[in-house]
Amino acid sequence: MSDSWDVVDLLAEIADVGRDPVRGGYSRHVFEPAELELRAWFTRRAEQLGLTVEPDRNGNIWAHWGEPGPGTVGTGSHLDSVPGGGAYDGPLGVASALSAVAGLKADGFVPVRPVAVIAFAEEEGSRFGIACLGSKLMTGAVDPAAIAARADTEGVTFAQAADAAGVDSAGIGRDDERLSSLGCFIELHVEQGRALTDIGAPVAVASAILAHGRWRLAFHGEGNHAGATPMADRRDPVVAASAAILAARDVAAAADKPGGGVSARATVGRIVPVPGGTNVIASRVDAWLDVRGDTDPATRALVAEISAAMQIAAGKEGCRTEIIRESYLPEVTFDPGLRDSLRAALAAVPEFGEVPVLATGAGHDAGVLAAELPTAMLFVRNPTGVSHAPAESSSDDDCRAGAAALATVLAALAG
Ligand code: GLV
Ligand code: MN
Ligand code: MN
Ligand code: MN
Repeated sequence: MSDSWDVVDLLAEIADVGRDPVRGGYSRHVFEPAELELRAWFTRRAEQLGLTVEPDRNGNIWAHWGEPGPGTVGTGSHLDSVPGGGAYDGPLGVASALSAVAGLKADGFVPVRPVAVIAFAEEEGSRFGIACLGSKLMTGAVDPAAIAARADTEGVTFAQAADAAGVDSAGIGRDDERLSSLGCFIELHVEQGRALTDIGAPVAVASAILAHGRWRLAFHGEGNHAGATPMADRRDPVVAASAAILAARDVAAAADKPGGGVSARATVGRIVPVPGGTNVIASRVDAWLDVRGDTDPATRALVAEISAAMQIAAGKEGCRTEIIRESYLPEVTFDPGLRDSLRAALAAVPEFGEVPVLATGAGHDAGVLAAELPTAMLFVRNPTGVSHAPAESSSDDDCRAGAAALATVLAALAG
């Protein structure tokens, strides 16, 4: 095992874990072998650092520096990825936390308040469909019984996957003991846009997250033969889904004004025709819709408009549309006091000075925890501006700057 705590070296250690040869990038889904390997790596490295490692009831892993107790300064992120994701979304926050704690220890810093590095489970919702699942279970934002019964694409339930990974699914749900121990939580994350590149700064502090929901769609048509069915006689749900997706895009595109301070985003990133054969008119299409907006009312209105447009578009193709909400989180405004503390701590370091403040369209565990305790985020420059794709990037220097910024902030909060 290496004894380097440089964040770049830490990321290099896991660079081969969970590579996806088909999609490119990484596919590290909760409780699957690659993600389990990352959990084992995190546990080993945290123990090597002298931290006390313990999984919680919901599959999140906690590594404590100091006796667990009230006022704990939490930091960390997640180790899972989207299908074919980048190297930084998630692991950068976990590796930076380890690196920051190691640096503080090496400097002889003694925390007055305990520090906990946390690796959250299933942040992307790539396997069981609910984003930020580990933090939502911990805060009671989701129904544990419903989560236990949710199945992945292979029919494996969350309960089965958790139990197989050694997380007792009978115990999942709100965790008051853990939550009440946390005084605050700071998540470092790669930026999922180009703002820092345009500004010319390595690090920012987050201000807010868009409201965000996911809906399961089903377009019902009539299965039939590709050669024997005249075009006029079809009720093809693939055509209906296509028309509905275009309609959703048009509604969101008309509202989305990035230069005018309005965000309205609609995405269908996953479509499954059933049964799915080249010479088969499908009987049904399953699809998943992701919608984001600035505020809860604006997002609800956007979803209502999108739903109506989808129903009309699919109806013109003779198909019926079902739209079922799977998850929803209103917009998040991060704690202004904590944000100011982060900015003040960084302003005292010449390398950082006055750091920019950025809002984001991406969801994070820090956004879920914000309903319970003061949370804040640090963003690290991403020159490509791309995320949830292999082109996601960050330079070695910026990764190190991020870890140094996190160490500065942890020292201010735990000292
Ligand atoms: C998670 O990264 C999300 O914002 O979808
Ligand atoms: Mn992500
Ligand atoms: Mn992330
Ligand atoms: Mn995320």
